[in-house]
Amino acid sequence: MLTIDGKPYIDLDDHLPLDALPHIDVIKGAIADSYDLITANTWQQNCLQNEEPYNCTWFAEEKTAKTKKEFFELELKNDLVAPYWILNLTENHDRIVYDSLDCPDEKWDQITLKDIPDSWAPMLKWIDDLTCFVKRGRICALLTRPGLAPQFHRDTGIPGHLKNIKPHREEFIWFNITKDKSFVILDEEDNNKIIPITSQSAFFNHSQLHGADHSPAYWQVSFNIEGSFTEEFRKQIGVDHIERYHYENVS
Ligand SMILES: [Fe+2]
Repeated sequence: MLTIDGKPYIDLDDHLPLDALPHIDVIKGAIADSYDLITANTWQQNCLQNEEPYNCTWFAEEKTAKTKKEFFELELKNDLVAPYWILNLTENHDRIVYDSLDCPDEKWDQITLKDIPDSWAPMLKWIDDLTCFVKRGRICALLTRPGLAPQFHRDTGIPGHLKNIKPHREEFIWFNITKDKSFVILDEEDNNKIIPITSQSAFFNHSQLHGADHSPAYWQVSFNIEGSFTEEFRKQIGVDHIERYHYENVS
């Protein structure tokens, strides 16, 4: 499977100031204040119905639902669900995480914060204080709707190239602020073995299938903050010997 340093994921709990995160109610308050900025941009045909974990149908490009009414109509008429609601706090990025070996500084520098409610101030302070990034990219809150296990999927960074899996230097930190640990990596080369991410935070090869095998009956919230890691952080988490992330466990 696609790994980072031969591991399905790198536990970042000892490397991020998670104890200093704003209180969960403060973050949830800011998310609630941002309702109008939230999009439901991926859909799955419910894999729980047909037990096909790969039956991930992406409609984001063909269907251009923008309003909540259009999202609802799309789901209702097509028997689809969007288990993730996405709240990007940033804009002016043309893809998700940039490859830091390819991406010129100007592209990183174009990324700006959206006009977001003031209630984000404590969380933005926490993000600004992070020392892991040379360049910081998209800041994304992933909101998992109650009771809908997110489909297993790959993020290759490039929209429309979901099968284009190749070595890359695409770096991000992922962390959960809610308590349920249902986020998993799926190893399809080992009989669809489920590998749970048991830490609160992680970095993993996002080209590897990931998602959740169940979802609790209430909202879950996690964040992806993308960027280019500092050399020091790469050393700290033990990936400084890897040029591009891929099959590091295979010689
Ligand atoms: Fe993903």
